[in-house]
Amino acid sequence: MKYLPIITLDGPAGVGKSTLAKQVASILHIAYLDTGAMFRTLALRLGPDAAKLPDEELRERCRGFRFRLEGAGEKSVLLCNGEPVGDEIRTEEVGRLASRLATSPIVRDALKSAQRALGESTSLVAEGRDMGTVVFPAARFKFFLDARPEVRGLRRFRELEARGEKADLAQITEMIRQRDDMDRNRAVAPLKPAPDALIVDTSDLDVEGVLRVLVDAVAQPAERILEEVRCPQTSKAGERDAAFSHMGADGAIGMVDVGEKNVTRRVAIVRGAVEMNAHTLDLLKRHALPKGDVLVTAQVAGIMAAKRTAELIPLCHPVPLTYADVRFEVRDEPPAVLIEAETRTNDRTGVEMEAIIAAQTAAATIYDMCKAVQKDMIIRDVRLVYKSGGRTGTFRREDAGETSC
Ligand code: DC
Repeated sequence: MKYLPIITLDGPAGVGKSTLAKQVASILHIAYLDTGAMFRTLALRLGPDAAKLPDEELRERCRGFRFRLEGAGEKSVLLCNGEPVGDEIRTEEVGRLASRLATSPIVRDALKSAQRALGESTSLVAEGRDMGTVVFPAARFKFFLDARPEVRGLRRFRELEARGEKADLAQITEMIRQRDDMDRNRAVAPLKPAPDALIVDTSDLDVEGVLRVLVDAVAQPAERILEEVRCPQTSKAGERDAAFSHMGADGAIGMVDVGEKNVTRRVAIVRGAVEMNAHTLDLLKRHALPKGDVLVTAQVAGIMAAKRTAELIPLCHPVPLTYADVRFEVRDEPPAVLIEAETRTNDRTGVEMEAIIAAQTAAATIYDMCKAVQKDMIIRDVRLVYKSGGRTGTFRREDAGETSC
């Protein structure tokens, strides 16, 4: 069974949800789901009189739409009946129609099922109005973005101007107010923050500022673990733990000068596992552990750690990573979380250390998140299973193991 984290981002029209949701999804290498685009697609294809259709007919028409998601981050693509949803849904008029159609319980029900089905097949940043309250109430990370209507009106106005479209600021702000009114006051799934959502007023923040708030909220637990990894405890006063004992008695150490080596594309994949008992695994799967969402935290920890490998391993070169990811598979028998870390670069030296650090930090984070309920978990079998690029070429471990993340 794959474990699939969900992050929800709700808020009113024009608050910048799409930009931010795409960026958060890119950072985490997971898919981005624009649920407004689903309502807009139905509004455009069913036409302005859809809400007046008899219930059964409307239900039947809704069944005719099949949604699918491809890709991740900024490259996520929403498909409806096999075709990518295009820019034709992005007009103010379609937005208004969508807002009206969104008051229909039949339409909402149909789209809720479609959205949940997408959330069951892939990890998501889901953006909309009722993601945290209705569609994904168990999501571990929930955000509600808000901003004053006049600020949102101005942002939308600038967006339209930049696209070379004619725009009237007062009219846009008024339309935003009307949409707010419809979205906040409808009877079914009105726009409102989930009780456990982090509310962020973006009126006086730029995109970078909001992004920092969101990523910090997801990454805080990961950062704490990293601090523990970076500053190992001393066992007696003044005496370090064994971490640096390989340096040798005379203290002669040296970094290899890789300046003459060729720049090549380099990839490393490392796997490992955290064995735990079935009870702990069950709590992890049900998001019921006291510190929160284990695998999202471990993924962020692993990616952040990969980027800091040169700070941790004394003679390791700093390498500009072009990609880092940590994936998981939950194994029921014997119970364990299987970890796979992948790092890539175009450089003169390999990225095996980065993948090892990513996998080990993810494993340590899993341990930290679960240790309140089990102390005797075992972190094991962290090993390089694949490496390519450089003078020594491709390495593939024969006993690469079962994970397949
Ligand atoms: O986010 P957007 O402007 O593209 O959404 C268009 C309309 O769709 C919005 O005014 C209300 C509706 N909507 C909704 O009711 N619930 C969602 N989860 C997403 C959008």
